[in-house]
Amino acid sequence: MIRKDLSGSDSQNADPYYIPSTGEGNFENLVADYESKDRVIWQKPDLVISLLGDLSGKTVADIGAGTGYFAFRIVPKAQRVIGIDIDQRFINFMDSVKVRLPEAYRDRFEPRLAMPDDPKIEPEEVDDIIIVNTYGYIEHRINYLSKLFTGLKPGGSLVIIDFKKNNLPIGPSDEFKVSLQDVQHELEKAGFTIKVVDRSSLDYQYIVQALKPEPEK
Ligand SMILES: C[S@@+](CC[C@H](N)C(=O)[O-])C[C@H]1O[C@@H](n2cnc3c(N)ncnc32)[C@H](O)[C@@H]1O
Repeated sequence: MIRKDLSGSDSQNADPYYIPSTGEGNFENLVADYESKDRVIWQKPDLVISLLGDLSGKTVADIGAGTGYFAFRIVPKAQRVIGIDIDQRFINFMDSVKVRLPEAYRDRFEPRLAMPDDPKIEPEEVDDIIIVNTYGYIEHRINYLSKLFTGLKPGGSLVIIDFKKNNLPIGPSDEFKVSLQDVQHELEKAGFTIKVVDRSSLDYQYIVQALKPEPEK
C-alpha cells in the first residue's frame, strides 16, 4: 500500500469538483494501491464483511468504493450492491469489472456516481452501508452522515473502517485521519446508535458499527 496523503485542497485548485482524495499519483497507481495483495492480511476483508451478518436479500452501499475492493466481495452474499464514488474514473473501473462478473451476479451490482456532499442514496434504499479508508476524506461529516441515516432502512447498519491515529507504516498521515472518538461523536450527532467499537481485530485500523434505530412503537 502506497503511503499517501490528501495533498491539495480546494484552495489549491479552483475546480469545484477537484477530488483531494485521489490526490497525487496517476490512476494506475491508485488502482494498484487499492488492490494491493497485502490488504488481505492487514484489513481482513472477510472478517469486516462478516460484521454485516447475513446479507441475503439485502441491499448494501459501499461509500467511496474506489475499485470495488469491498463491494465486489459483497456481491455474492447480497441481493444488491451499490458502489458509490465521486470519481468518474472509479465508476468506469467498476463498470469494467462488472461486465466480467458471472451473469447471475452482474445485475446485482450498480456503480453510482455521487457528489462529495451527497451519497445519492434514496430514502431507506439500503439495509447496510460500509465506508472503508474513506471517512477522513468526507467533509462536513455530520451532515453527510445524516444523509446516510436517511438512506438506511430502520435497523440498518453503517460500518466505518479507518486508520488509527499513529505513526503507521501504511495509510495517510495523521493529519488526514479521524480519531475513533470523533467518529463515535459524529455518528451519535447524526442519530446513530453505536453497536461495535473494535480497536483490536485490525492492527492499523479501527472498526465502528452503528445502527439506525428502529422507530419506537
Ligand atoms: C482511499 S480510497 C478507498 C477506496 C475503497 N473504499 C477501498 O477501501 O479500497 C477513497 C475513495 O473515496 C472516494 N471519495 C472521496 N471522497 C468521497 C465522498 N465524499 N463521497 C464518496 N466517495 C468519496 C475517492 O474517490 C476514492 O475512491
